[in-house]
Amino acid sequence: MVLESVARIVKVQLPAYLKRLPVPESITGFARLTGGAEDGTQCLTHASFRMLRLLPFLGVLALLGYLAVRPFLPKKKHQKDSLINLKIQKENPKVVNEINIEDLCLTKAAYCRCWRSKTFPACDGSHNKHNELTGDNVGPLILKKKEV
Ligand code: FES
Repeated sequence: MVLESVARIVKVQLPAYLKRLPVPESITGFARLTGGAEDGTQCLTHASFRMLRLLPFLGVLALLGYLAVRPFLPKKKHQKDSLINLKIQKENPKVVNEINIEDLCLTKAAYCRCWRSKTFPACDGSHNKHNELTGDNVGPLILKKKEV
């Protein structure tokens, strides 16, 4: 039943609709389309009606054109929800922290990987609140010194 209806639309109704469309074959044909009626009289209503009949057809063409071009359109570069670092050293193009192993005086140090710590790059436990709020599962990088 559904396929029968689709087949009727594609094979009968769509070709009949396309055949009735006043599609201009040139720029001058388009100008004639917006001009007077076929009998030579200047009738704005008649010209408008012919233009209106083209609207669905032109809409479908525009949609198909957009769908064909869309994969090649540039994506938005900075989407706020895709940022990891929301506030730490935003003036820097890249945040890099360097810690010398020799300077690790504690036997254990925790470094933030969630970018929410107020003592960045050291972990202050802010990841717990972030995980609670978002359902995320981030945690610190823990460096341990072997005791000899
Ligand atoms: Fe960021 Fe702990 S505060 S990992």
